[in-house]
Amino acid sequence: MSETFKGKSTSRRAFLRGAAAAGAGAITAGAAHSATPDPLITEPQPWAQGLGEGVDVTPYGLPIKFESDVVRRNVDWLTADTISSINFTPIHALDGTITPQGCAFERHHSGAIELAKEDYRLMINGLVDTPLVFSYADLERFPRENHVYFCECAANTGMEWAGAQLNGAQFTHGMIHNMEYTGVSLRTILAEAGVKPEGKWVYVEGADASSNGRSIPMEKALDDVLVAFKANGEALRKEHGYPVRLVVPGWEGNMWVKWLRRIEVTDAAVQSREETSKYTDTLEDGTSRKWTWAMDAKSVVTSPSPQAPITHGQGPLVITGLAWSGRGAITRVDVSKDGGKTWETARLAKPGERMALTRFYLDTTWDGNEMLLQSRAMDETGYVQPTKTQLRDVRGLNSIYHNNCIQTWWVKPNGEAENVEVS
Ligand code: MTE
Ligand code: CO
Repeated sequence: MSETFKGKSTSRRAFLRGAAAAGAGAITAGAAHSATPDPLITEPQPWAQGLGEGVDVTPYGLPIKFESDVVRRNVDWLTADTISSINFTPIHALDGTITPQGCAFERHHSGAIELAKEDYRLMINGLVDTPLVFSYADLERFPRENHVYFCECAANTGMEWAGAQLNGAQFTHGMIHNMEYTGVSLRTILAEAGVKPEGKWVYVEGADASSNGRSIPMEKALDDVLVAFKANGEALRKEHGYPVRLVVPGWEGNMWVKWLRRIEVTDAAVQSREETSKYTDTLEDGTSRKWTWAMDAKSVVTSPSPQAPITHGQGPLVITGLAWSGRGAITRVDVSKDGGKTWETARLAKPGERMALTRFYLDTTWDGNEMLLQSRAMDETGYVQPTKTQLRDVRGLNSIYHNNCIQTWWVKPNGEAENVEVS
């Protein structure tokens, strides 16, 4: 912690103490130092006069009713139906880095299927010494690993190429989640079958109707890919691939095959329909780039943001957000209040972890004037998140996938925020 920061936090404490002495709700500019008694302090409250709910009323707990708006949301007009569709993580309302499974975005090409562990089989075939089929119980007998990784759909922020479009961090940046996975390394499973020297790729597919077949180069398959069956300590939810999904750290979400049913070792990439038609990016000069698997460094301010306005007026303000990189750890995040003219370095809640979300905070004082809030991530490779203009210069306006540009929120004097672009 730097001296400057310590200094700031002292004055911040002093401010909060002063405000508290003035009565609840007084942490606002020019709040009257009212002596009106606060009934929440002076009167007995109903929740203290009776008994609460006993244990076992809710064998599996859900969030309290006051948090019922912290849910995944869909944007109706984006897709024709909800089967081949997407919804978004409420990142504007979460803190820390772990995404609870119940509000982690879903992306299905043919709906979320219900597949029991007893009916689960994983086949390995192709260029292997011994083709094998594993049951769920077989997978549980291999040594396990635990890792936290983000999963970002390649289409995240895809609607923002041509102009500021969706009004909320949930909708612009919510095709991402970050969980602690438990599983078996794909390397271990491939070794069990024995990969032939000609085996250069794995073609992975799911048990759903779409199968979502994808090719992954052998180098990655043998590096850090996980065959996962637990997320955040519990079984994967149906919508995230129960009972088994592939975890492909740092790489675009479409390779994270859910309901994993087959791994075929091949000598070349299998040209699935999706790979050739969809997962390419059209560039400014009209050519395309293909096989852009790793997700480049990116960040977003989650609060304040359009769905998380400032409601307390001027004074102490916590600006917070998320940063991530598919190429390693986040090393630094800067925040600008003036649309990128000047920058302050934010505080990382914990040192960045490779291919996982990093939480940043800027503990600041708001003077009540408008702000053009931005965040800019840097990763361990030295890469710096580009501005929208810089990205468009290279990629043009016709892309959908891999938009990792700097996001701007226009925070108005009344505390409300809006998705805008600065030139
Ligand atoms: N796997 C299967 N079997 N079917 C699918 O439709 N969608 C993919 C990938 N794996 C998909 C799949 C896409 S495009 C993404 S972004 C991630 O799953 C989303 O994972 P999630 O639904 O757990 O968020
Ligand atoms: Co996707």
